[in-house]
Amino acid sequence: MALLLFMTTFLQLLFLKCESTAPLAPALYVFGDSLSDSGNNNGLRTLARADHEPYGVDFPSGATGRFTNGKTMVDFIAESLGLPFAPPYLSTEDKSCFKAGVNYASGSAGILPETGSALGENVDFNKQITYFQETSKDQDELARSIFVVWIGSNDYLNNYLQPQSYNSSHQYNPIQFADRLTNTLRQGIERLYELGARKFAVFNIARIGCIPATVALANQRPPAPCVEDVNNLVLIFNTMLLPVIAELENTLTGSTFVRGDVYGIGKTSQETGVSEAQSYCCQVDFTGMCAANLAPCENRSMHLFFDSFHPSEVASNRMASECFDGYSSCMPMNIRQLAQK
Ligand SMILES: *[C@@H]1O[C@H](CO)[C@@H](O)[C@H](O)[C@H]1NC(C)=O
Ligand SMILES: *[C@@H]1O[C@H](CO)[C@@H](O)[C@H](O)[C@H]1NC(C)=O
Repeated sequence: MALLLFMTTFLQLLFLKCESTAPLAPALYVFGDSLSDSGNNNGLRTLARADHEPYGVDFPSGATGRFTNGKTMVDFIAESLGLPFAPPYLSTEDKSCFKAGVNYASGSAGILPETGSALGENVDFNKQITYFQETSKDQDELARSIFVVWIGSNDYLNNYLQPQSYNSSHQYNPIQFADRLTNTLRQGIERLYELGARKFAVFNIARIGCIPATVALANQRPPAPCVEDVNNLVLIFNTMLLPVIAELENTLTGSTFVRGDVYGIGKTSQETGVSEAQSYCCQVDFTGMCAANLAPCENRSMHLFFDSFHPSEVASNRMASECFDGYSSCMPMNIRQLAQK
């Protein structure tokens, strides 16, 4: 009798424990670039890699291929969902780790296949979806899973804004180029829908005219004002993205879209409360990324940027929590509400 009572209590405890830690969604799937990459580029021939210190200096397992000191925005989203960090598709041997989602994001990658090619290999958006297609899944689980799509910065930084390496700015004016990007993105999302995705969080492009790399290239010294010409290019893309998402939601029956706005997120130190808003933390090499094995700054929390392109962990944490539980950067609902829908 005592044993039975013990067993019952034990089972109740177990049940309660499982209840309280049950994830809000069965899985998280991530499509994107170095802002989300968790190690996919480690085995590729490319300059766009972060599998060395000081990257990962604040991450539990050190340098993993994440392009920042600690966690990325999608890592924080995974945590908030109660899921493990989505493992990188290419560098995960044990495919059983894919139960709770996969990260297909690849540093230097863009919406267009040619984007980032001057740096070496990457996995472009369509290839990422093809990899997803190869990881076949239970349809009911997919329909309840969260699909984060955050890509496009490199189509400007590592394509349109580099006329010496890429043709696009000769072939397309800014509106035509943004149109090509949003159309290709739309086709990719339609493909994901056909494969079973229903709950999407699609993020726009941040103010890449304000990142240290762009400011330095324009021969302005941080904390100089942003390069507004570059922000204006991005604004065209961001503006054209809105009707594309509205149309997708209308035509793809049963789909739900969260629009993530990282463009509107604080750009000055006053707005962010971070003292060294525009200066980065590590010592960068000619690529603008951290030179290998040189010590980073002492207090990473004082910087919005870790290298001259990528947000630091504190900046990513802020973006993630704003979109997960807040009401201003993710519309028309936050990711918690998307998961519960
Ligand atoms: C640019 O376009 C020309 C002609 O369309 C092509 O021959 C050339 O390879 C392209 N260059 C790059 C860098 O894509
Ligand atoms: C690091 O910077 C943050 C933000 O400015 C501050 O709150 C914190 O006290 C600093 N930590 C140390 C160890 O100086």
